[in-house]
Amino acid sequence: MENQLFARKLIEWYQINKRNLPWRHTTDPYQIWLSEIILQQTRVVQGLPYYQAFTQKFPQVSNLAQAEEQEVLRTWQGLGYYSRARNLHKCAKIICHQYGGQFPDNYAELIKLPGIGPYTAAAIASFAFKEPKAVVDGNVYRVLSRFFGLQEDIASNSGQKAFAKLAQTLINHEHPDLYNQGIMEFGALHCTPKSPACNNCMFIDNCVAFDQKLQNVLPIKSKKVKVRLRHFYYINVVQNDLLLMKKRVGNGIWEGLYDFYLHESSDPLDHQNITSEIDFLRSLGAKTKRIDLSKEYVHILSHQKIKARFITVYIQGVSADIMVEERLKFYPLDEVHDLPKPVLISHYLNDTFF
Ligand code: ADE
Repeated sequence: MENQLFARKLIEWYQINKRNLPWRHTTDPYQIWLSEIILQQTRVVQGLPYYQAFTQKFPQVSNLAQAEEQEVLRTWQGLGYYSRARNLHKCAKIICHQYGGQFPDNYAELIKLPGIGPYTAAAIASFAFKEPKAVVDGNVYRVLSRFFGLQEDIASNSGQKAFAKLAQTLINHEHPDLYNQGIMEFGALHCTPKSPACNNCMFIDNCVAFDQKLQNVLPIKSKKVKVRLRHFYYINVVQNDLLLMKKRVGNGIWEGLYDFYLHESSDPLDHQNITSEIDFLRSLGAKTKRIDLSKEYVHILSHQKIKARFITVYIQGVSADIMVEERLKFYPLDEVHDLPKPVLISHYLNDTFF
């Protein structure tokens, strides 16, 4: 099938079948950027309320730039991959301070901004400015690999280059926005990872994967991500409805969020050796009134599986500033409720206190 026919068919399909999503009713690069950052590694249903929250709280890029980081993280809470939220804030400041509040109107400039990679730059450039720059995301890999029978490994650099090159030859120059949205939507709704709707497909006569029954094989993705198993023991010290928490610093995934004193162990600890192994607990000594051990909470990240237990230690008679060197501070429950926290921490707090 000729490339331009492929693109036209996708655009036609898109106009009939597209979901009605709020970021599809705007050409404002700020709103498009927000939606694309939120939707990275996030499904549409999960991302929608966050898009609404961000656009309501921060209607202009200047509102976002002027916000406290804590407020941005709090609005992001629950989406995970918090570096996205920190980059979002950083990028908003750069737009305001270096670009006079206007997003750059082309791919080459957009990609220089923090948190904006090739996919996001192409999405913004094409949706907001109609630059004919092809997006390549998981949907695009799937549709192209199947239709063209492309067996390059999408986890390899050479494979990614081959797909990007092919995608760029297919883009419709008159409607690059509709083409890009169309191919992604087709991948999301029709040419799905499992059980694609082949029997009802406009490409049935030309699709290599259908012809050769390769739908379940393509796209080829080699690398298996090694998942690291971690055992977290969080100690939540409670005194008179005050909880001892700390703000995480450094470059970790949860930088800027609040959690408790953390003991990490290479092996799981049982009920008895938790209290004997953790120095911090011993240091609380005689003031301890009661110790509760929570159930196990499992938190899955892309390269890690965290198994966490919470040890709730009720104490008496400790002055509020004894643990300053650990950056630990007592917070009343209502403040704890409002602090930005990893979802893992929120789950435990909701089960135990709220
Ligand atoms: N996922 C990433 N970007 C998207 C978009 N613009 N519409 C729907 N899903 C998406």
